[in-house]
Amino acid sequence: MSVVIAPPGHASAYLVRAAVTAPSVYNTQPWYFVADGDRGIQVYADPDRGMPRTDPNGRELVVSCGAALFNIRLAMRHLGFAPVVRPFPRPHDPTLLARVGWGPYARPTGDEQRMYGALRRRHTVRGPFRNDPLPAGMVDALRVQATEEGAVLHVVDDVASRKHLAALVKEAEGMHRKDPGHTAEQASWTWRSAQPRTDGVPADVSVAHPDCTGFAGRDYAGLTSMFPVPPGRWPAPAGLVAVLSTDRDDRLAWLRAGQALERILLYAAAQGVMAAFHTQPLEVARLRTRLRREFLPGDFPQMILRLGFAPVQRIVPRRPAAEVLLR
Ligand SMILES: Cc1cc2nc3c(=O)[nH]c(=O)nc-3n(C[C@H](O)[C@H](O)[C@H](O)COP(=O)(O)O)c2cc1C
Repeated sequence: MSVVIAPPGHASAYLVRAAVTAPSVYNTQPWYFVADGDRGIQVYADPDRGMPRTDPNGRELVVSCGAALFNIRLAMRHLGFAPVVRPFPRPHDPTLLARVGWGPYARPTGDEQRMYGALRRRHTVRGPFRNDPLPAGMVDALRVQATEEGAVLHVVDDVASRKHLAALVKEAEGMHRKDPGHTAEQASWTWRSAQPRTDGVPADVSVAHPDCTGFAGRDYAGLTSMFPVPPGRWPAPAGLVAVLSTDRDDRLAWLRAGQALERILLYAAAQGVMAAFHTQPLEVARLRTRLRREFLPGDFPQMILRLGFAPVQRIVPRRPAAEVLLR
Protein backbone atom coordinates (compact mmCIF):
# COMPACT_ATOMS: atom_id res chain seq x y z
CA MET A 1 0.00 0.00 0.00
CA SER A 2 1.20 3.54 -0.67
CA VAL A 3 0.67 5.62 2.44
CA VAL A 4 2.81 8.48 3.73
CA ILE A 5 4.99 7.22 6.55
CA ALA A 6 5.21 9.56 9.52
CA PRO A 7 7.79 9.49 12.32
CA PRO A 8 6.29 7.13 14.88
CA GLY A 9 5.65 8.07 18.50
CA HIS A 10 7.76 6.31 21.08
CA ALA A 11 4.95 4.23 22.63
CA SER A 12 3.50 3.24 19.27
CA ALA A 13 6.91 2.18 17.99
CA TYR A 14 7.39 0.03 21.10
CA LEU A 15 4.02 -1.68 20.48
CA VAL A 16 4.73 -2.24 16.79
CA ARG A 17 8.20 -3.68 17.45
CA ALA A 18 6.44 -6.32 19.55
CA ALA A 19 3.63 -6.79 17.00
CA VAL A 20 5.91 -7.57 14.05
CA THR A 21 7.55 -10.52 15.79
CA ALA A 22 4.26 -12.42 15.25
CA PRO A 23 4.15 -15.40 12.89
CA SER A 24 2.33 -14.88 9.59
CA VAL A 25 1.44 -17.12 6.69
CA TYR A 26 4.54 -17.25 4.43
CA ASN A 27 5.93 -14.39 6.52
CA THR A 28 3.70 -12.06 4.47
CA GLN A 29 3.38 -9.73 7.50
CA PRO A 30 -0.04 -8.69 6.18
CA TRP A 31 -0.50 -5.80 8.59
CA TYR A 32 0.05 -2.16 9.23
CA PHE A 33 -0.58 -0.05 12.28
CA VAL A 34 -1.84 3.48 12.78
CA ALA A 35 -0.90 5.45 15.88
CA ASP A 36 -4.09 6.65 17.56
CA GLY A 37 -2.57 9.74 19.24
CA ASP A 38 -1.89 9.04 22.93
CA ARG A 39 -4.91 6.80 23.05
CA GLY A 40 -3.33 3.66 21.58
CA ILE A 41 -3.00 2.01 18.21
CA GLN A 42 -5.09 0.64 15.36
CA VAL A 43 -4.38 -2.72 13.73
CA TYR A 44 -5.12 -2.99 10.02
CA ALA A 45 -5.04 -5.94 7.64
CA ASP A 46 -3.14 -5.17 4.42
CA PRO A 47 -5.06 -6.95 1.65
CA ASP A 48 -2.22 -6.18 -0.81
CA ARG A 49 -0.22 -8.78 1.11
CA GLY A 50 -2.87 -11.47 0.75
CA MET A 51 -2.34 -14.82 -0.99
CA PRO A 52 -5.41 -15.28 -3.21
CA ARG A 53 -4.52 -18.83 -4.27
CA THR A 54 -3.48 -20.19 -0.87
CA ASP A 55 -5.86 -18.19 1.28
CA PRO A 56 -8.75 -16.96 -0.93
CA ASN A 57 -10.97 -15.84 1.97
CA GLY A 58 -8.17 -14.07 3.83
CA ARG A 59 -8.64 -16.38 6.82
CA GLU A 60 -4.90 -16.95 7.39
CA LEU A 61 -4.26 -13.27 6.77
CA VAL A 62 -6.58 -12.33 9.66
CA VAL A 63 -5.19 -15.14 11.87
CA SER A 64 -1.69 -13.67 11.28
CA CYS A 65 -2.91 -10.18 12.23
CA GLY A 66 -4.60 -11.67 15.33
CA ALA A 67 -1.19 -12.95 16.43
CA ALA A 68 0.25 -9.43 16.00
CA LEU A 69 -2.70 -8.03 17.99
CA PHE A 70 -1.93 -10.41 20.84
CA ASN A 71 1.65 -9.12 20.91
CA ILE A 72 0.41 -5.52 21.20
CA ARG A 73 -1.79 -6.52 24.13
CA LEU A 74 1.16 -8.34 25.72
CA ALA A 75 3.49 -5.36 25.24
CA MET A 76 0.96 -3.15 27.03
CA ARG A 77 0.69 -5.69 29.84
CA HIS A 78 4.49 -5.76 30.09
CA LEU A 79 4.40 -2.04 30.91
CA GLY A 80 1.63 -2.66 33.44
CA PHE A 81 -1.38 -1.39 31.49
CA ALA A 82 -4.58 -3.30 30.77
CA PRO A 83 -5.25 -3.11 27.01
CA VAL A 84 -8.75 -2.10 25.94
CA VAL A 85 -9.48 -3.87 22.65
CA ARG A 86 -12.32 -2.98 20.32
CA PRO A 87 -12.43 -5.50 17.48
CA PHE A 88 -13.82 -4.22 14.16
CA PRO A 89 -14.69 -0.76 15.55
CA ARG A 90 -15.79 0.46 12.09
CA PRO A 91 -18.14 -2.20 10.72
CA HIS A 92 -18.03 -0.72 7.20
CA ASP A 93 -14.21 -1.07 7.13
CA PRO A 94 -13.27 -4.77 7.30
CA THR A 95 -9.55 -3.94 7.12
CA LEU A 96 -9.59 -2.13 10.48
CA LEU A 97 -9.29 -5.22 12.66
CA ALA A 98 -8.96 -3.64 16.09
CA ARG A 99 -8.37 -0.51 18.05
CA VAL A 100 -6.26 -1.06 21.16
CA GLY A 101 -6.27 1.58 23.88
CA TRP A 102 -4.13 2.00 26.99
CA GLY A 103 -6.37 1.00 29.93
CA PRO A 104 -5.84 1.35 33.67
CA TYR A 105 -2.71 0.20 35.48
CA ALA A 106 -2.69 -3.50 36.43
CA ARG A 107 0.47 -5.36 37.45
CA PRO A 108 1.50 -7.95 34.83
CA THR A 109 1.40 -11.59 35.89
CA GLY A 110 4.47 -13.83 35.95
CA ASP A 111 3.14 -15.72 32.90
CA GLU A 112 2.70 -12.47 30.97
CA GLN A 113 6.24 -11.38 31.75
CA ARG A 114 7.63 -14.76 30.70
CA MET A 115 5.61 -14.66 27.47
CA TYR A 116 6.84 -11.14 26.72
CA GLY A 117 10.40 -12.38 27.31
CA ALA A 118 9.78 -15.13 24.72
CA LEU A 119 8.59 -12.77 21.93
CA ARG A 120 11.93 -12.74 20.12
CA ARG A 121 12.90 -16.30 21.05
CA ARG A 122 9.86 -17.88 19.36
CA HIS A 123 10.52 -19.21 15.88
CA THR A 124 8.69 -21.57 13.55
CA VAL A 125 10.23 -25.03 13.25
CA ARG A 126 10.31 -26.99 10.00
CA GLY A 127 11.23 -30.63 10.40
CA PRO A 128 11.81 -32.96 13.31
CA PHE A 129 11.84 -32.30 17.04
CA ARG A 130 14.17 -33.74 19.64
CA ASN A 131 12.96 -36.79 21.50
CA ASP A 132 12.41 -35.01 24.84
CA PRO A 133 8.86 -34.94 26.24
CA LEU A 134 7.08 -31.64 26.83
CA PRO A 135 7.39 -30.18 30.35
CA ALA A 136 4.91 -31.68 32.85
CA GLY A 137 1.55 -29.92 32.86
CA MET A 138 2.21 -28.03 29.64
CA VAL A 139 -0.56 -29.63 27.58
CA ASP A 140 -3.25 -28.71 30.11
CA ALA A 141 -1.79 -25.22 30.47
CA LEU A 142 -1.86 -24.70 26.69
CA ARG A 143 -5.50 -25.76 26.57
CA VAL A 144 -6.24 -23.11 29.21
CA GLN A 145 -4.34 -20.46 27.21
CA ALA A 146 -6.51 -21.24 24.16
CA THR A 147 -9.75 -21.20 26.15
CA GLU A 148 -8.88 -17.80 27.64
CA GLU A 149 -8.88 -16.42 24.09
CA GLY A 150 -12.16 -18.10 23.10
CA ALA A 151 -10.60 -20.97 21.12
CA VAL A 152 -10.10 -24.69 21.73
CA LEU A 153 -6.85 -26.67 21.48
CA HIS A 154 -7.59 -30.28 20.50
CA VAL A 155 -4.67 -32.60 21.13
CA VAL A 156 -4.47 -35.40 18.54
CA ASP A 157 -2.75 -38.10 20.54
CA ASP A 158 -3.99 -41.49 19.42
CA VAL A 159 -1.95 -43.14 16.69
CA ALA A 160 -4.83 -43.69 14.25
CA SER A 161 -6.00 -40.05 14.41
CA ARG A 162 -2.46 -38.73 13.99
CA LYS A 163 -1.98 -40.92 10.94
CA HIS A 164 -5.28 -39.75 9.51
CA LEU A 165 -4.41 -36.08 10.08
CA ALA A 166 -0.95 -36.64 8.55
CA ALA A 167 -2.64 -38.21 5.50
CA LEU A 168 -4.84 -35.10 5.05
CA VAL A 169 -1.74 -32.89 5.30
CA LYS A 170 0.05 -35.05 2.73
CA GLU A 171 -2.90 -34.96 0.33
CA ALA A 172 -3.16 -31.15 0.55
CA GLU A 173 0.58 -30.64 0.20
CA GLY A 174 0.60 -32.99 -2.81
CA MET A 175 -2.15 -30.89 -4.43
CA HIS A 176 -0.21 -27.67 -3.73
CA ARG A 177 2.98 -29.08 -5.27
CA LYS A 178 1.16 -30.04 -8.47
CA ASP A 179 -0.81 -26.81 -8.84
CA PRO A 180 1.15 -24.30 -11.00
CA GLY A 181 -0.89 -21.38 -9.60
CA HIS A 182 -0.02 -22.38 -6.07
CA THR A 183 3.67 -22.98 -6.76
CA ALA A 184 3.89 -19.59 -8.51
CA GLU A 185 2.29 -17.87 -5.52
CA GLN A 186 4.59 -19.73 -3.13
CA ALA A 187 7.61 -18.75 -5.27
CA SER A 188 6.58 -15.08 -5.10
CA TRP A 189 6.86 -15.25 -1.28
CA THR A 190 10.08 -17.29 -1.25
CA TRP A 191 13.58 -15.89 -1.81
CA ARG A 192 17.18 -17.04 -2.29
CA SER A 193 19.97 -15.75 -0.07
CA ALA A 194 21.59 -13.88 -3.00
CA GLN A 195 18.57 -11.55 -2.94
CA PRO A 196 17.47 -11.31 0.70
CA ARG A 197 14.17 -9.65 1.63
CA THR A 198 12.56 -8.45 4.85
CA ASP A 199 9.40 -10.46 4.17
CA GLY A 200 8.63 -13.88 2.70
CA VAL A 201 10.44 -17.10 3.51
CA PRO A 202 14.07 -17.94 2.63
CA ALA A 203 14.08 -21.00 0.35
CA ASP A 204 16.60 -22.71 2.61
CA VAL A 205 14.53 -22.09 5.76
CA SER A 206 14.22 -25.83 6.25
CA VAL A 207 17.45 -27.74 6.68
CA ALA A 208 15.54 -31.01 6.30
CA HIS A 209 13.62 -32.58 3.41
CA PRO A 210 9.97 -31.41 3.66
CA ASP A 211 8.77 -35.00 4.02
CA CYS A 212 11.25 -36.10 6.68
CA THR A 213 8.61 -36.33 9.41
CA GLY A 214 5.22 -38.00 9.08
CA PHE A 215 3.69 -34.52 8.54
CA ALA A 216 4.54 -33.15 5.09
CA GLY A 217 6.01 -29.64 5.14
CA ARG A 218 5.75 -26.88 2.58
CA ASP A 219 8.37 -27.35 -0.12
CA TYR A 220 9.88 -23.84 -0.15
CA ALA A 221 13.03 -24.84 -2.09
CA GLY A 222 11.33 -27.10 -4.66
CA LEU A 223 13.39 -29.99 -3.23
CA THR A 224 10.75 -32.65 -3.87
CA SER A 225 10.99 -32.24 -7.64
CA MET A 226 14.68 -33.27 -7.39
CA PHE A 227 14.32 -35.72 -4.48
CA PRO A 228 10.74 -37.04 -4.41
CA VAL A 229 11.60 -39.38 -1.54
CA PRO A 230 13.39 -38.11 1.57
CA PRO A 231 16.90 -39.55 2.00
CA GLY A 232 15.85 -40.92 5.38
CA ARG A 233 13.00 -40.67 7.83
CA TRP A 234 13.73 -39.09 11.17
CA PRO A 235 13.20 -41.48 14.02
CA ALA A 236 12.27 -38.54 16.25
CA PRO A 237 8.59 -38.16 17.02
CA ALA A 238 6.63 -35.38 15.33
CA GLY A 239 6.00 -33.83 18.76
CA LEU A 240 2.64 -33.01 20.27
CA VAL A 241 0.11 -32.70 17.43
CA ALA A 242 -2.84 -30.36 17.93
CA VAL A 243 -5.60 -28.54 16.07
CA LEU A 244 -6.74 -25.08 17.16
CA SER A 245 -10.41 -24.40 16.53
CA THR A 246 -13.15 -21.84 17.09
CA ASP A 247 -16.92 -22.24 17.31
CA ARG A 248 -17.51 -19.81 14.44
CA ASP A 249 -15.80 -19.08 11.16
CA ASP A 250 -16.00 -15.34 10.54
CA ARG A 251 -13.41 -12.56 10.70
CA LEU A 252 -13.96 -12.07 14.42
CA ALA A 253 -13.34 -15.80 15.02
CA TRP A 254 -10.19 -15.70 12.85
CA LEU A 255 -8.92 -12.71 14.83
CA ARG A 256 -9.59 -14.67 18.02
CA ALA A 257 -7.82 -17.72 16.63
CA GLY A 258 -4.72 -15.63 15.85
CA GLN A 259 -4.60 -14.26 19.39
CA ALA A 260 -5.08 -17.75 20.83
CA LEU A 261 -2.36 -19.09 18.55
CA GLU A 262 0.21 -16.51 19.62
CA ARG A 263 -0.70 -16.94 23.27
CA ILE A 264 -0.09 -20.69 23.00
CA LEU A 265 3.14 -20.22 21.05
CA LEU A 266 4.58 -17.72 23.53
CA TYR A 267 3.50 -19.72 26.56
CA ALA A 268 5.31 -22.74 25.08
CA ALA A 269 8.32 -20.73 23.86
CA ALA A 270 8.81 -19.33 27.37
CA GLN A 271 9.66 -22.92 28.34
CA GLY A 272 11.78 -23.57 25.25
CA VAL A 273 9.04 -25.41 23.32
CA MET A 274 8.58 -24.33 19.68
CA ALA A 275 5.93 -25.09 17.05
CA ALA A 276 5.78 -26.33 13.47
CA PHE A 277 2.69 -25.63 11.35
CA HIS A 278 0.91 -27.71 8.73
CA THR A 279 -1.98 -25.59 7.54
CA GLN A 280 -2.10 -27.06 4.01
CA PRO A 281 -5.42 -29.01 4.46
CA LEU A 282 -7.07 -25.84 5.77
CA GLU A 283 -6.23 -24.22 2.39
CA VAL A 284 -8.27 -26.77 0.41
CA ALA A 285 -12.01 -26.31 1.06
CA ARG A 286 -12.89 -29.99 0.64
CA LEU A 287 -10.14 -31.16 3.01
CA ARG A 288 -10.93 -28.49 5.59
CA THR A 289 -14.56 -29.67 5.61
CA ARG A 290 -13.41 -33.29 6.01
CA LEU A 291 -11.06 -32.38 8.82
CA ARG A 292 -13.86 -30.51 10.53
CA ARG A 293 -16.29 -33.40 10.18
CA GLU A 294 -13.83 -36.09 11.26
CA PHE A 295 -11.90 -34.31 14.01
CA LEU A 296 -14.01 -31.53 15.48
CA PRO A 297 -17.73 -31.91 14.92
CA GLY A 298 -19.31 -28.49 15.41
CA ASP A 299 -16.03 -26.53 15.51
CA PHE A 300 -13.98 -24.90 12.75
CA PRO A 301 -10.27 -25.80 12.40
CA GLN A 302 -8.03 -22.72 12.26
CA MET A 303 -4.47 -24.06 12.71
CA ILE A 304 -2.69 -27.42 12.70
CA LEU A 305 0.48 -27.49 14.75
CA ARG A 306 3.15 -29.69 16.26
CA LEU A 307 5.00 -28.71 19.43
CA GLY A 308 8.33 -29.89 20.78
CA PHE A 309 11.97 -29.05 21.44
CA ALA A 310 13.69 -28.10 18.19
CA PRO A 311 17.21 -29.23 17.29
CA VAL A 312 17.70 -26.21 14.99
CA GLN A 313 16.07 -22.80 14.68
CA ARG A 314 16.03 -20.41 11.74
CA ILE A 315 15.37 -16.71 12.22
CA VAL A 316 13.21 -15.23 9.47
CA PRO A 317 13.51 -11.43 8.96
CA ARG A 318 10.84 -8.80 9.47
CA ARG A 319 10.04 -5.45 7.93
CA PRO A 320 11.19 -2.75 10.38
CA ALA A 321 8.56 -1.21 12.66
CA ALA A 322 8.96 2.20 10.96
CA GLU A 323 7.81 0.69 7.67
CA VAL A 324 4.49 -0.56 9.05
CA LEU A 325 3.63 2.21 11.53
CA LEU A 326 1.63 4.97 9.90
CA ARG A 327 0.08 8.15 11.15
C1 LIG B 1 -1.80 -18.62 9.66
C2 LIG B 1 -0.41 -19.20 9.53
C3 LIG B 1 -0.20 -20.33 8.77
C4 LIG B 1 1.08 -20.87 8.65
N1 LIG B 1 1.26 -22.04 7.94
C5 LIG B 1 2.49 -22.60 7.87
C6 LIG B 1 2.69 -23.85 7.22
O1 LIG B 1 1.74 -24.50 6.77
N2 LIG B 1 3.95 -24.34 7.14
C7 LIG B 1 5.03 -23.67 7.67
O2 LIG B 1 6.16 -24.15 7.56
N3 LIG B 1 4.86 -22.50 8.33
C8 LIG B 1 3.62 -21.96 8.44
N4 LIG B 1 3.45 -20.78 9.12
C9 LIG B 1 4.62 -20.13 9.75
C10 LIG B 1 5.18 -18.97 8.95
O3 LIG B 1 5.83 -19.43 7.78
C11 LIG B 1 6.14 -18.18 9.86
O4 LIG B 1 5.41 -17.63 10.91
C12 LIG B 1 6.86 -17.05 9.14
O5 LIG B 1 7.72 -17.57 8.16
C13 LIG B 1 7.69 -16.22 10.11
O6 LIG B 1 8.63 -17.02 10.78
P1 LIG B 1 8.66 -17.14 12.38
O7 LIG B 1 7.34 -17.72 12.82
O8 LIG B 1 9.82 -18.08 12.65
O9 LIG B 1 8.89 -15.80 12.95
C14 LIG B 1 2.17 -20.24 9.29
C15 LIG B 1 1.94 -19.10 10.08
C16 LIG B 1 0.67 -18.60 10.22
C17 LIG B 1 0.43 -17.41 11.11
